[in-house]
Amino acid sequence: MRSVLSFFLPFFFVSLSAMADSEDGMHAPISIIKTIVPNKEFLHLPITMSAPLTWVRVEVDGVWQQEFDCRLTVTGKPDFFANLQVGQWKGKKVELIIEKLSEDAEAPSLFVQSDTMAQENTVYKEAYRPQFHFSARTGWINDPNGLVHYDGVWHIFFQHNPYSWDWGNMTWGHATSTDLLHWTEHPAAIQPDKLGTIFSGSGVVDWNNSSGFQKGTDKPLVFFFTYDGPSARYGHRATQGLAYSTDGGKTFVKYEKNPIIPHIIGGNRDPKVIWHKESKQWILALYMDREDYALFGSTNLKEWKQLSEIKNLGCSECPDFFPLAVNGDANNVKWVFWGGNGKYLIGSFDGNNFKPETPPLTNKYGGNDYAAMTFSDTPDGRRIQLSWMNHGEGVFRGMPFNHQFTIPRVLTLRTTPQGQVRLYTEPVEELKKLRGKLEEVTNVKIEDNETVLIPHDGELFDAELRINVGSANRLVINTVDRTIEYNVAEKWIALDGIRAPLELNEGMLNLRLIVDRTSIEVFAQDGEVQIAKVFRPKGGVVYTGIAVESIGGSAGIENAKVWKMQSVTCKIPSTS
Ligand code: FRU
Repeated sequence: MRSVLSFFLPFFFVSLSAMADSEDGMHAPISIIKTIVPNKEFLHLPITMSAPLTWVRVEVDGVWQQEFDCRLTVTGKPDFFANLQVGQWKGKKVELIIEKLSEDAEAPSLFVQSDTMAQENTVYKEAYRPQFHFSARTGWINDPNGLVHYDGVWHIFFQHNPYSWDWGNMTWGHATSTDLLHWTEHPAAIQPDKLGTIFSGSGVVDWNNSSGFQKGTDKPLVFFFTYDGPSARYGHRATQGLAYSTDGGKTFVKYEKNPIIPHIIGGNRDPKVIWHKESKQWILALYMDREDYALFGSTNLKEWKQLSEIKNLGCSECPDFFPLAVNGDANNVKWVFWGGNGKYLIGSFDGNNFKPETPPLTNKYGGNDYAAMTFSDTPDGRRIQLSWMNHGEGVFRGMPFNHQFTIPRVLTLRTTPQGQVRLYTEPVEELKKLRGKLEEVTNVKIEDNETVLIPHDGELFDAELRINVGSANRLVINTVDRTIEYNVAEKWIALDGIRAPLELNEGMLNLRLIVDRTSIEVFAQDGEVQIAKVFRPKGGVVYTGIAVESIGGSAGIENAKVWKMQSVTCKIPSTS
């Protein structure tokens, strides 16, 4: 069967040709070609997560541009509309070759061109939208990528599936902020191409134009990513690519000589680049295979040679590599090598080899926190990290978006009360700007088996608690249906059963709790240990406070402060 359909809409020329793969039934998968001549920035595609997976190839004037899979709506109200950027092809003949589409699918008649991204009127108002954690307008996100500060602007990029609530079609989404709190999401920065989809990586400011990419007065921003091509779709293995911006992060160009590092081994990926001033070279940390990583060196960001290896980190993927002054002492700088699940080594680096001085350590435990990365070129030298609050998948079911990032947090190396140098993690100071009304409780004794309520009204809060464990065996803290427990004898803290070893100093437990609509981050002992968790709030429950129970003896709340947090309304993105 072959049918050809053409129709005209104002601003939207569409021609549709369909080739059915089967003669029988209403739902036979067919291939169609939908032609548009864009005169706007975006084409909104209707997505229904229960619809069959279709395969879309985009050709412009007959030339291949990109391919992706998505679940185009067959019938009924779409779950959401995804944005296909078409503004770059204005006035040209753009063909969407859609394979495996249900014959009776309504999707093609629901395609709409627009200068704004989809869902403009409802976005950020969804029931489970994080209120002060970054999440994408629509689609799946995972790892933070390319984190860099330039000219007063924080740039974050993220692993994004623009066309689905599930992982896939990896593209670098992009958002910016001037305060690390309010984010504006922009159109995608780096799109897949024939070398593969765009996996994780990093970014730097090339202050001395060592790459030679500089055009005007802006320093080049240079980004490194992995081309993933292990699928039938692209038929080759993961390589490393480069893209750059010569206008301060507004537009992005892929390097014409990509890939810059060929496939070496296994699933080699996730390049993280840093400038090493002592050896006057750029250093690239790369995940290689199993639990092994490698370091590469370059003077121009384009040509890289392998310097050394780092083996048996105890985890895989997403390296980070950076120096930190121990206890702020500029004469005692150590290097930290970090992997995907937060295992890290402390050691020294001579420009060639990283020599670990510790076994793999961690200060973050389980929970929903993975693939963290630190910003490059922070203006005040802070080592600021963002992480993906992974999993907790069910939480965002029914929402047009999936997943969120942790709050930005500062990493420092400090000596613990037990005398070991360890990584500490604390929320950035900026977060305090979102603090509103304060409730405070001071010097309250909690008798054995008694519960004291630290009152607060609202679902979003930032709390600082100083509790003297006294003669208690256990402290059980309940808030927003989450349970934090401290076990005095066994020296551990747990959030909803996720345990982390923790020793107290003179019986004082210090906690910072950051609670958003769908997440809680616990920082214990000024960031010596942290646990993050994503949860789905129970509808209709009004939260009234933090309940602290003492078991096996009496304890005391020395001081507790709870601030109501303001919701951060993400801005509607610009289309320029
Ligand atoms: C970590 C990771 C990376 C990879 C990316 C793909 O979550 O698996 O190793 O680059 O996600 O989305």
